Amino acid sequence: MKINLANIKKAKKLLDNRDCVAIPTETVYGLAGNAYSDQACKKIFKLKKRPKYNPLIIHYYDIKKLKNDCKLNLNFYKLYKRLCPGPVTFVMNLNKNSKISKIATNNKNSLAIRFPKHPITRNLLTKLNYPLAAPSANLSTRVSAVSPSHVKEDFGKKIKYILNGGKSSIGVESTIIDLRKKPKILRLGGLDILKIKKILKMKIKENLNSKKIYVPGQSKLHYSPGLPIRLNAKKIKDNEAGLIFKKGKKKKRNFFYLSKNGNLNEAAKNLYSVLRKIKKSKFKSIAVTKIPNFGLGKTINDRLKKASKY
Ligand code: TXA
Ligand code: MG
Repeated sequence: MKINLANIKKAKKLLDNRDCVAIPTETVYGLAGNAYSDQACKKIFKLKKRPKYNPLIIHYYDIKKLKNDCKLNLNFYKLYKRLCPGPVTFVMNLNKNSKISKIATNNKNSLAIRFPKHPITRNLLTKLNYPLAAPSANLSTRVSAVSPSHVKEDFGKKIKYILNGGKSSIGVESTIIDLRKKPKILRLGGLDILKIKKILKMKIKENLNSKKIYVPGQSKLHYSPGLPIRLNAKKIKDNEAGLIFKKGKKKKRNFFYLSKNGNLNEAAKNLYSVLRKIKKSKFKSIAVTKIPNFGLGKTINDRLKKASKY
């Protein structure tokens, strides 16, 4: 997609004014504000109806722009070098003299940082003299937005501007890894954790249902399309929407496909759009057929499992 500098300028002006703007990232759209400003961060929580104890991810152009917001370590450098910019978020120790708003971190002494890859948002970040706090641009507990129209669906005119970056190329949120001590995965996401294991050359704990750290990606009601979901369905009833991994020969009007030829990356990219499409259809429940549980399939299954708690 071509970079329209006038649009980026418009987004910058609003952000400089401590307003919120929806921004495209390769994972999902973000609802962004100046991470140094309490006022901007408060607006994000209010718009999203997000509980204030749930901290925000801070988005940077690159490591230089991090300045001294958090304490870096060897594992961070190794992963940053190979994976950034990209669909991964690191939880680090916050530096006491960091300018990050305490509203964004909910006064915690840790900081979640990410370097998004989308060229439009990267261009925007080079022009700002502050990083962007940005949760996914959807209403709290619902599925994320992967296109400007999804953001509009959730927020209508409440958001002053959506910076259009087309459809997100990955389609599921970033993978979150806590690097403060022994590396630990907090949320599966758009980066296959095998890549992390290969780079760090170690086994990595998956702590996806911790009660200690509050990561709502881990909480029960989340990623919900607002309809009941039945997992691992063998048969799909006529009155339910079938969410099917791979397009087959059989065509039925209640079948919705995630991928044309059984590609897990394509399925992840389509997941949230298809769930939103089903929600808008006449079907009142969803039955999901089995989805392979490796690569991004693990992330898809994680999201659907959480959404099925609805
Ligand atoms: O792909 C993504 O990560 C997208 C795009 C916009 O960057 N953002 C996103 O943000 O998914 P959000 O707020 O919807 O999910 C961020 C998750 C939350 O579950 C939050 O609890 C967790 O990150 N988080 C934020 N700060 C944290 C911290 N200091 N320690 C542990 N978890 C943290
Ligand atoms: Mg979210």
